[in-house]
Amino acid sequence: KKKAFIFDLDGVIVDTAKYHFLAWQKIADELGIAFTPEHNELLKGVSRVRSLDIILELGHATASQADKDRWLKEKNDDYLSYIENMDRNEILPGVMHVLKHLKEQNQPIALGSASKNARPILEKTGILSYFDVIIDGNDVTNAKPDPEVFLLAAKNLTIDPADSIVFEDSVAGIEAANIGGMTSIGIGDEKILNKAQYIFPDFVHIDLSFIDMLIKK
Ligand code: BG6
Ligand code: MG
Repeated sequence: KKKAFIFDLDGVIVDTAKYHFLAWQKIADELGIAFTPEHNELLKGVSRVRSLDIILELGHATASQADKDRWLKEKNDDYLSYIENMDRNEILPGVMHVLKHLKEQNQPIALGSASKNARPILEKTGILSYFDVIIDGNDVTNAKPDPEVFLLAAKNLTIDPADSIVFEDSVAGIEAANIGGMTSIGIGDEKILNKAQYIFPDFVHIDLSFIDMLIKK
């Protein structure tokens, strides 16, 4: 049976979550707001604009729109400098194995990312052609945990949400998949992603027989 296999990008396919973290940490430092890896979990999967608001909330701070726009630009410029020289070596271990298997099995594949920088990253890492549908931060108005990004991906693949499988590294993304009535697969720490239906530390731990089980289900 054809299923929709929907992948988040940052922290699932590529190790860009660390770059987002570094860039936000720099902004938080400038604002004198303490920002730890634990705080960063709140930002994963969340849009750029909402991420800045969360940092300001952490610091009980408010800011003018002009200041916010400046920090948003600074954060993104910094992030762009990190991803400038990305190549296929930054694809996370085990990911290619699963993508290739899905292609061989003729299964529909989509990207469902909150990022507005998704396409250039897929191009730089040479995997753009694996994706039948790409939905990113430029296509949606509601950030995860709203399921909009995943529902739109399934719709464009003409697959029911109930037949859709989402790979996510963020709490917000797992929640979005669950709200959308999809199968949620957490990639990362099981203590953090405990709402996921299945959890793996990384793609290396995903056996192709598990993928085949999802296809048959
Ligand atoms: C998500 C990341 O994929 O995209 C978040 O997990 C990031 O950390 C969000 O803030 C938006 O990305 P961008 O590239 O549009 O700033
Ligand atoms: Mg992510």
